[in-house]
Amino acid sequence: MNTLLARDLARLPELLEKTLDAALDYIGSIDDRPPATDFVRNDSLDLPDDGLGAERTLDLFAQRYGRTMPASNGPRFWGFVTGGTTPAALVGDWLTSVYDLNLTSAANSPAPNIELEAIQLLRELFGLPAAFAGTFVTGATLANFVGLALGREWIARQFGKSVARDGLHAIPPIAVLSGEAHSSIFKVLALLGLGRDSLRAIATLPGDREAVDIEAMRQALEQLGDQPCIVVANAGTVNTGDFDDLRAIADLKSRHRFWLHVDAAFGGFAACSPDYRRLLDGIAAADSLTIDAHKWLNVPYDSAMIFTRHRDLQIAVFQNSAAYLGAIAEPPDFLHLSPENSRRLRALPAWFSLMAYGRAGYREIVERNCELARLLGDRIRASATFRLLAPVRLNVVCFTLVGETDSDRAREFLARVRDDGRVFLTPTTFRGETGMRAAFSNWRTQEEDIEIAWRAMNAASDLQF
Ligand SMILES: Cc1ncc(COP(=O)(O)O)c(C=O)c1O
Repeated sequence: MNTLLARDLARLPELLEKTLDAALDYIGSIDDRPPATDFVRNDSLDLPDDGLGAERTLDLFAQRYGRTMPASNGPRFWGFVTGGTTPAALVGDWLTSVYDLNLTSAANSPAPNIELEAIQLLRELFGLPAAFAGTFVTGATLANFVGLALGREWIARQFGKSVARDGLHAIPPIAVLSGEAHSSIFKVLALLGLGRDSLRAIATLPGDREAVDIEAMRQALEQLGDQPCIVVANAGTVNTGDFDDLRAIADLKSRHRFWLHVDAAFGGFAACSPDYRRLLDGIAAADSLTIDAHKWLNVPYDSAMIFTRHRDLQIAVFQNSAAYLGAIAEPPDFLHLSPENSRRLRALPAWFSLMAYGRAGYREIVERNCELARLLGDRIRASATFRLLAPVRLNVVCFTLVGETDSDRAREFLARVRDDGRVFLTPTTFRGETGMRAAFSNWRTQEEDIEIAWRAMNAASDLQF
């Protein structure tokens, strides 16, 4: 064995102690670190011939990057929709690397069973029927990819074909209908060979709503006649946290032939609270369902789930049969269910966090985050500096500066907020207006963070143009 490897192995306890110190130093400073940093570095690093060994590499890393590591997992990173890492999820994540299990087969480790258990816990958390099989993937984009790949296969079956077997050219073009689809849906359509332009944007409700207009959806389905299609319903739009009427879309299924994919990347967590659960009424009619874990479940990147009631199609699309891997068992090994073959035990942080905090723990996080979003929304509504672009429906606050706000002014404001270091917000446009969003999905965020962020936002709003 290489001497550096042998020495590191012999000193593993000290190395892990030192890593723990570095981790605790960072975690202890999360409240004071800027949530985001504008990092530019021009000097390059050369691959060493002999290597530094783990301890000196840790020192080098600390010196090169330690101070600039942002607290994006902290209480005031409100950009995009970003979760953090609960203490139990961190424990699970560390152990994931310690065990370094590849999830290929139940015949050689308990890893698949752990993932199945985590999925069962999640089904309970979200109130999903047992008919929904679940699989961990890297994020909501990939979950959407799997969901729409299943929809594509289902449509091919309506023509007596299989895209997995015969290819896309065996069937007519597929129409995909959606109101306010997330950008990842377009990426997925490009990846699946359906084409970004296959998405037919259906009108949304008037005013400040992003929910699809059910009558417009009905008419679009009517126009397609007998032609089967895919409907992407949005349960939690990224701009304003709006929800399609899932019950009404589900009802359309009795008269029209479509695969219903629901993108509930963060909105799925509305199920954790009796106050918000009604927003998901009808979700059990989904054929496939995306829910992210690295958002509101507060497990580390990268983690999401795809649920489906059609595991047969999942196997048809994603199976990876080979003599050396054996026959497809029941339940099937996970390499037959997602784009990945080898994969880490991604479910373990979720397993830990779900067992550690349970139903009540997640209800509290979701309700607190929504309440904090509402409080920020109240401040904005009462303010002479900011203006709400949409009501706060769940955990997202979409707003802008009072007065003419073009993208330069918004960019300048957001850069100032970031550089101030107390809070991080990201830009958007809503109904043609330039704005910004604050999304609450971190378990650490408390009421005092609203006050801290509010002061920073007001200080940064003093712009001269
Ligand atoms: C509704 C929705 N769908 C999909 C995604 C993509 O998620 P990911 O970045 O985990 O792939 C997001 C991310 O914000 C989202 O809000």
